[in-house]
Amino acid sequence: MVPLRPVVPQLAPSILSADFAKLGEALAMLEASGAEVAHVDVMDGRFVPNITVGMPVVAAMRKVTSLPLDCHLMIVEPSRYALEFVAAGASWVSVHQEADPHLHRTLDSIRKAGAKAGVALNPGTPIETLTDLIGDFDFVLLMSVNPGFGGQSFIPRILGKARRLDALRRSRNTPFLIQVDGGVSIKNAAELVTAGADCLVAGNAVFKAPDPAVAIRELQAVMRAARQV
Ligand code: DX5
Ligand code: ZN
Repeated sequence: MVPLRPVVPQLAPSILSADFAKLGEALAMLEASGAEVAHVDVMDGRFVPNITVGMPVVAAMRKVTSLPLDCHLMIVEPSRYALEFVAAGASWVSVHQEADPHLHRTLDSIRKAGAKAGVALNPGTPIETLTDLIGDFDFVLLMSVNPGFGGQSFIPRILGKARRLDALRRSRNTPFLIQVDGGVSIKNAAELVTAGADCLVAGNAVFKAPDPAVAIRELQAVMRAARQV
């Protein structure tokens, strides 16, 4: 039987906070440090005010790392591009609930293409929008800042949202991962995992640390202790 949530929590450092001229080095460092996933923030200047990277950069990263690439699509009409990200090498693809009126179809197409399908929720979007999709996605990304930029402050009420989503998962007896993204640090990592998070995205807490490899290990240690691993 598939457990409702994995025992070992995962850390997904966000390459948004890395030096874009040295992405290969950043990925090698993540892999050597034991990070489980590399988070890739895709922004289009429309769904969010910022613009970052697209499929060619994902394809280039795919060539130099064996880490799963987790593409967080902060774009309008994500269904137009989701499969192109899978073809470029994304192993996980999340689309925003607020950007897609046909989530069921988009999630199904991502899964059929062989990737994990996720739904991302902005801080103000209730988890209840997902109740009729449970079983149709592999993970939920809870935004704990307003999407668009790294280095913002964590919104504490997301802890309660993670707890309610964990309770929903239990009440429906359906496994999926809970990912939390934005303002994650050594200060809130343990309480997020205790609240139900299985995968934490961390940009500045990793790449702006004096030693990113040490920061990864410290975050993982705190997360595992919270799960008593
Ligand atoms: C924000 C992005 C995040 C960002 C997190 O829109 O979705 O993934 O990289 O950065 P930190 O951890 O610095 O808040
Ligand atoms: Zn993100």
